[in-house]
Amino acid sequence: MADCFGRYLRVTTFGESHGPAVGAVVEGLPAGLEVSLDEIRRLMDRRRPGASDLVSSRNEPDRVEVLSGVESGRTIGSPVALLIRNLDARPEEYRRTRKLFRPGHADFTWFEKFGRMPPSGGGRLSGRETAARVAAGALAMSFMASLGMKVRGYTLSVGPVSCRKVVPEFAEQHPLRCADPDVASEMTDVVRKASSSGDSVGGRIEVVAEGVPAGLGEPVFGKLDALLAGAMVSVGGVKGVEIGEGFRLCRLKGSEANDQMSREGFLSNRCGGTLGGISTGRPIVVRLAVKPTPSISNRQRTTGPDGEDADLEIHGRHDPCLCPRVVAVAEAMAALVIADAAIAQRTRNMDGYYYFFGPRARNGPPGV
Ligand SMILES: Cc1cc2nc3c(=O)[nH]c(=O)nc-3n(C[C@H](O)[C@H](O)[C@H](O)COP(=O)(O)O)c2cc1C
Repeated sequence: MADCFGRYLRVTTFGESHGPAVGAVVEGLPAGLEVSLDEIRRLMDRRRPGASDLVSSRNEPDRVEVLSGVESGRTIGSPVALLIRNLDARPEEYRRTRKLFRPGHADFTWFEKFGRMPPSGGGRLSGRETAARVAAGALAMSFMASLGMKVRGYTLSVGPVSCRKVVPEFAEQHPLRCADPDVASEMTDVVRKASSSGDSVGGRIEVVAEGVPAGLGEPVFGKLDALLAGAMVSVGGVKGVEIGEGFRLCRLKGSEANDQMSREGFLSNRCGGTLGGISTGRPIVVRLAVKPTPSISNRQRTTGPDGEDADLEIHGRHDPCLCPRVVAVAEAMAALVIADAAIAQRTRNMDGYYYFFGPRARNGPPGV
């Protein structure tokens, strides 16, 4: 079941980086949900390689073919199959690296698990796999939008350069998805310098879900924050997750960390919109630590299945910084988790229906 995700909204992804296609099958969406191909295309373009000189030059059009489950622009209740053909695959570029373990990539662990080297480019452990997640996430976002919820993400830092403020509209236009116009060119320089010196750079991104009503999340193993963290770390290159103030909370006192309440609702949102794994009604805030791209052209020491020492320089089409592309993937994963939790809440008890269809939907829970 390692390629399936979700409990009520179930997504199965398939396909390898340099095979004929990648794709997803999405089950559990209600019938009648609007599916806009233009919106799917817009979201796919946000993740797409070849869109700027700050990401891999692999030039995939990433057009999504909807093979089933949709008629006249709306879901019909059966599984939605989404296909994205790989039109710029070049398996021959990996001929040399396929004999060696790429440091930081998953070749060694794949070899230990399956007893053979992974297919070209990492197969399922390539960033290419995440195209399917974004296509599936587009459907989850459409479902969220129908309930008044939305997700957005942006880059908070790259290498030593951190945003001092967040202007989401600016991030949307910037190739690195940098959230702060004042540091954007400095951030771009860091990526260009790393790239031109044969290296790569990491960073932090933030994803915020707004309009999520209080009450979503299934204690104890289906806690919303637990599912979000798992979903985010399942994205290649993501090595850390914070919910709300996250690691900063451990430096605070209880009196500083708690989100106090009044009749208006919560007075702050340091918990990042979840308490006890259940949404509070405030924005859900998730931050991700993204490591530097493993594939770099600088010489590195490694070995291969034969155990001999070797030097490796990786040339080819790689992202010098994963952040801008991970933003789109993290948004999709957040949407899949939250949409799943929303469907779970509707089946959990009669109250669930009131959130979406009853008076509480109109008035909103406290603090929204
Ligand atoms: C959208 C996206 C694009 C990626 N592009 C590259 C790339 O060009 N080169 C590379 O070495 N790794 C790339 N990665 C990262 C690897 O997939 C990842 O580091 C590898 O699978 C090892 O997993 P881990 O870093 O989570 O342990 C990308 C990841 C994502 C999500």
